[in-house]
Amino acid sequence: MKMDIRLAAAKFYDLNPSVPRDIPFYQALIPSHTATVLELGCGTGRVTIPLASDCRFIRGLDLSPAMIDLCCDKLARANLPAGRVAITQGDITSFDLGQRFDLIIAPFRVMQNLKSDVQVDGLFRCIRNHLAPGGTCILNVFRPAYAPDEWRERWLARGERLSWEVPIEGGKVACFERRIDVDEQHRVLYPDLVYRRYEGATLAEEVVLHLVMRFYYPEAFESLISGHGFQILKGWGGYEGEAYGEGPELIVQSKPGGMKPGVQAGS
Ligand SMILES: C[S@@+](CC[C@H](N)C(=O)[O-])C[C@H]1O[C@@H](n2cnc3c(N)ncnc32)[C@H](O)[C@@H]1O
Repeated sequence: MKMDIRLAAAKFYDLNPSVPRDIPFYQALIPSHTATVLELGCGTGRVTIPLASDCRFIRGLDLSPAMIDLCCDKLARANLPAGRVAITQGDITSFDLGQRFDLIIAPFRVMQNLKSDVQVDGLFRCIRNHLAPGGTCILNVFRPAYAPDEWRERWLARGERLSWEVPIEGGKVACFERRIDVDEQHRVLYPDLVYRRYEGATLAEEVVLHLVMRFYYPEAFESLISGHGFQILKGWGGYEGEAYGEGPELIVQSKPGGMKPGVQAGS
């Protein structure tokens, strides 16, 4: 098994106060209370656990044992009906769960961690193989803030900056984003997240998480999805009703079959 890049950083994940307000969005898209849901890259269960009350069964899949351990601890305390949630360790680009789902989701930009076309192809192949008849999938990436040739000059130039800071007992945790590199040609960012835990004013611990974030422009994201043989059903630009291509996010619901280009604005 590969090294868990989130081993030391996982414990800081749920402290982040600036995660998207996406849970009601996904809850509203669960087709019925008898639906089955698969969450790709479920992490600590931030979305999995609240969605569990709105469906018959939800499975979370994640690569990181450290994130899964935290998810399972939270699940043990969540008092959900037996058999409502299952968590599996695995790679979202190559899995076979022997089960099909009515809805497959990948909240908080999970698929941007996939750097290569081979991985992205694997993701779409696995989604197709795990959707029940009539099932849909919702994918999310951020909407790029800069033009394709501006990243080096504008994104990289900002260096390290504070993302968030929260008080904890006896001190605080601060998370900084350190911008390491950008591959403009292949549209990949290399940010580090630097977590610093302070006891009082003294730095007690520093953990660095090296991330890969492949980015997609609105049209390219649609083409990626339809190019993998999925029919686009709806698109959104964020969780506050923003139109596709206008808000901070790109969120697309699709289903297998058809190459219909263009998204219909979400309501
Ligand atoms: C930003 S977190 C999102 C977690 C959760 N979806 C949420 O919204 O809070 C990204 C998660 O994707 C997982 N991940 C990244 N690449 C993966 C892969 N190839 N297979 C499975 N999980 C992956 C990471 O381990 C991490 O838990």
